[in-house]
Amino acid sequence: MKRIILTLSIFVAFVSCNNNLVDKSKRGLVVENAMVVSARAEASKIGADILKKGGNAFDAMAATQLALAVAYPYAGNIGGGGFMVYRKANGEIGALDYREKAPLAATKNMYLDSLGNVIPDKSTLGAMAVGIPGSVAGVFAVHEKLGSLTIEDIIKPVIDLAIRGVVVTKKQEERIKKYQPLFSKANKDSIVFDKIWKENDTIKYPAFAETLTRIMKNGRDEFYKGETAKRLVKFIQDNGGIITEEDLAKYEVKWRNPVTFEYDDLKIISMSPPSSGGICLAQIMEMIEPYDLDKFGHNSLKSIQVITEAERRAYADRSFYLGDPDFVTIPGKTLISNEYLEDRMASFSFEKATLSSDVSHGNVQVIESNETTHYSIIDQFGNSVSVTTTINGAYGSKLYCSDLGFFLNNEMDDFSSKPGVPNMFGLIGAEANSIAPEKRMLSSMTPTIVEKDGKLLMSVGTPGGSTIITSVLQTILNVHEYNMTMQQAVDAPRFHHQWLPDVVLFEPNSFPKEIIEQLQRLGYSTNEERSPVIGKVDGILVLENGKLEGGADRRGDDTAVGF
Ligand code: GLY
Repeated sequence: MKRIILTLSIFVAFVSCNNNLVDKSKRGLVVENAMVVSARAEASKIGADILKKGGNAFDAMAATQLALAVAYPYAGNIGGGGFMVYRKANGEIGALDYREKAPLAATKNMYLDSLGNVIPDKSTLGAMAVGIPGSVAGVFAVHEKLGSLTIEDIIKPVIDLAIRGVVVTKKQEERIKKYQPLFSKANKDSIVFDKIWKENDTIKYPAFAETLTRIMKNGRDEFYKGETAKRLVKFIQDNGGIITEEDLAKYEVKWRNPVTFEYDDLKIISMSPPSSGGICLAQIMEMIEPYDLDKFGHNSLKSIQVITEAERRAYADRSFYLGDPDFVTIPGKTLISNEYLEDRMASFSFEKATLSSDVSHGNVQVIESNETTHYSIIDQFGNSVSVTTTINGAYGSKLYCSDLGFFLNNEMDDFSSKPGVPNMFGLIGAEANSIAPEKRMLSSMTPTIVEKDGKLLMSVGTPGGSTIITSVLQTILNVHEYNMTMQQAVDAPRFHHQWLPDVVLFEPNSFPKEIIEQLQRLGYSTNEERSPVIGKVDGILVLENGKLEGGADRRGDDTAVGF
């Protein structure tokens, strides 16, 4: 946005009132002190109760992460991993990588048959799809370094929730039903989710309560070296998996430097590799910064064009350059430098769509699932965290360890199963994200914190696979460029482009027909059916008066709780 058109932006904001974009009555929950926004009310409440008890955002992170494993087994987990970006009240920032890793026995071609073709389902369904989980290590690392309450204070309410059970929502009823055929395919024995669950039923998780009780008593090592580790490894191996006790024992989280960059008067703090989120977000935002998006208008033809073209170019780089930084050299500084990005956008014209084939690096499509979950927390002391966590697919690998009470991830599918296919320029794409023992798979998760004029402005993030980055982007732009409230910014219709396939996705029935037709005339392929939902954003905005506004996405059961 250009400062020079401030007067105009006030005019646009006024005009927007008429089309309900800036209806100030459409605010999310506003509170004085502290807030948690997550995919389920039960998890947000447990996190907020921890804050009320005097805990800080990091204590609440630990509690919310575990509570989501009970309340939202679709994506919440201890059988997966995630990323946390944080900003302390004193302005100090950091990031934690508790991403899953490939087992020691993993090999580059483990998902290919003798002819070199990808074996269907092998990297998505069942025990071979499972990466070494990082969530328990993540919770303990956060608590040890940054927390203030005891681990019992944090875990006990989650154990109580698992025993008490969680009431099934309509959306959950539908999700469980949808995935039951795959539960049967992945599991030898019947699991709790095979039953026909209806809205308002209560699902109890006694086995999970016992697992958490052991973890509470014995600490992090219970999961990685103790009885739980032994039972978990036996279960995975009995189901044909390759994870060993040594794999679990060797798992470590990594504290990382977040990616930071400026956009107008904002400082954006986001996740560094092995997530592509921060670098890709930085590339897109720096490429669109010179354009007057607020003047163009929200979801206008020109805004969609500029954003789409920046996304096309950033995602082409993502596929080629990004992977686990402990295994590959990533030219991070260059990728987000002004010179490089100006050059990348030099071929853009409002007159005609660029073809992805004229931009591209690799020719390997990144196909990622739309699940995962995000939570944002700001505490009464001014600390903020932004966490995105995942078991990858819906209910992960669908493999449910009834003995321990949780689903296991299918994060191995986030690696490139078949790298090394040269693109039209002869470059080898996706090698950076090929499988290797102990390597972390590339992610799109983009937990993000935004500062304005050196002060905390927003904690934001979303699930949505490859659409995560573009959903976070649009939410920040909705607040900053289009003057929306947090709730409006989260609820606003979204679109997405990711270089390949060369198609712009739109949430159905959300964009004017004329805009779609104009885009088509300019050479854009569009699709309004493929993604009924793009992202499911949860965020918290610090208002000018210091209060906090929650944005809990209307697309899910997401809920803000605070005080
Ligand atoms: N599994 C989704 C992601 O890491 O981006």
